[in-house]
Amino acid sequence: MENFTYYNRTKIIYGRGTEKEVGAEARKLADKVLLHFGGGSIKRSGLYDIVVASLREHGVEIVELGGVVPNPRLDLVREGIELCRRENITLILAVGGGSVVDSAKAIAMGVHEENGDVWENFISRKPIQKAVDVATILTLPATGSEASPNTVITDDATQLKLGYGSELLRPVFSILNPELFFTLPRNQIANGVCDMMCHIFERYFTLTPKVELTDALCEATLRTIIDNAYKLADNPQDYDAWAEIGFAGTLAHNNLLGLGRVQDWASHGMEHEISALYDVAHGAGLATVVPSWMRYVYKTDVARFARFAKNVFGISETAPDGTSRDDEALALAGIDALESFWRKLGLPTTMSELGIPDDSRFEEMARKAVLARSSDGKEIPQGNFRKLYSQDILAIYKMAEGSGRE
Ligand code: NZQ
Ligand code: ZN
Repeated sequence: MENFTYYNRTKIIYGRGTEKEVGAEARKLADKVLLHFGGGSIKRSGLYDIVVASLREHGVEIVELGGVVPNPRLDLVREGIELCRRENITLILAVGGGSVVDSAKAIAMGVHEENGDVWENFISRKPIQKAVDVATILTLPATGSEASPNTVITDDATQLKLGYGSELLRPVFSILNPELFFTLPRNQIANGVCDMMCHIFERYFTLTPKVELTDALCEATLRTIIDNAYKLADNPQDYDAWAEIGFAGTLAHNNLLGLGRVQDWASHGMEHEISALYDVAHGAGLATVVPSWMRYVYKTDVARFARFAKNVFGISETAPDGTSRDDEALALAGIDALESFWRKLGLPTTMSELGIPDDSRFEEMARKAVLARSSDGKEIPQGNFRKLYSQDILAIYKMAEGSGRE
């Protein structure tokens, strides 16, 4: 196990009716908030009215900034930074999915960067010294941004989608009421399930030896997500299933499951190039790229992939025809099981299903994935389970173009 330090300041307030606590919680921290939200789902569901009423009841003044789009954009972040400076905002309340939370975090980090543009921090990864507090009410369990130190923003001008992380960006509190997820359309449920599973994969597929506890926690969380995703496919208003999935989404990315492990993150790097250019949903992009990544890298540690197949998908060492499966057969059966599970949820697992009809920009995407942050033109490889250079990434995109197989 690697050495680690873990501190997570996010207070999680979980369960039925908890959104009504927002006014009291916010009042402890500020007398004025920036209420940040997306394209209108919170108004249609009635959540907006509940939040405004609770804030007003506790005497919290509200400044509003809506209009966050999926794959949140830098332009609105810059607008939010100006607004926060003008209004002396010390708490940003993000009400929505991961895009709203990420936009709030990027605003929060930019407010005190008076001598430069916030995007410079995304490019250089230069640490910030100060950030405005962010709190959230989550309406889409997926990204884990409600308790993570990360934000991911897209700059339309350069078609770059980049992440940034700082402990200063972990929300001060996050409210999750599983009932708020009832209005999610099926494709967003599937995208969210896929994203949270991938956050676990990025940690689970490691070469770090002797990490038994976090291995087991990863596997249990994955099994819980799969079981309850099936329940939601039958009934998207199953509170108990949502309660499990919502909790799993937070655990998948608050880094508890990644402690002491060298993590990978190549799949996320490859997906961000797809959603940067084609503006697809992050979870759908991951469903397309991850099975191909797995088939490309599994030989690096076949036993780990065999363990994944057995412990997550319950694949037996005895095949249906009575022959025994070796680690290689188990590994490949596990990847097939994952792909088939995602297809059952309605996720795309090929580039064409994702709406990317040709491979004309794959080379550009592969180059950007390893060069966006390079200052000397040398490729910075993605991933750690197996380091991937542009040629590897191109090969994976091409595998994802068809059936996901070489
Ligand atoms: O904008 P509104 O009207 O609110 O509609 C949203 C949006 O259209 C809708 N929605 C959200 N909650 C709903 C709802 N519709 C009905 N009922 C509800 N309860 O869903 C659509 C998608 O929302 P979005 O926030 O874009 O989705 P998600 O939560 O998947 O966030 C994706 C973004 O997060 C980034 C992704 O790259 C992507 O940009 N990620 C952030 C991470 C982080 N900060 O730690 C980690 C992730 O790996 C990921 O990269
Ligand atoms: Zn993700």
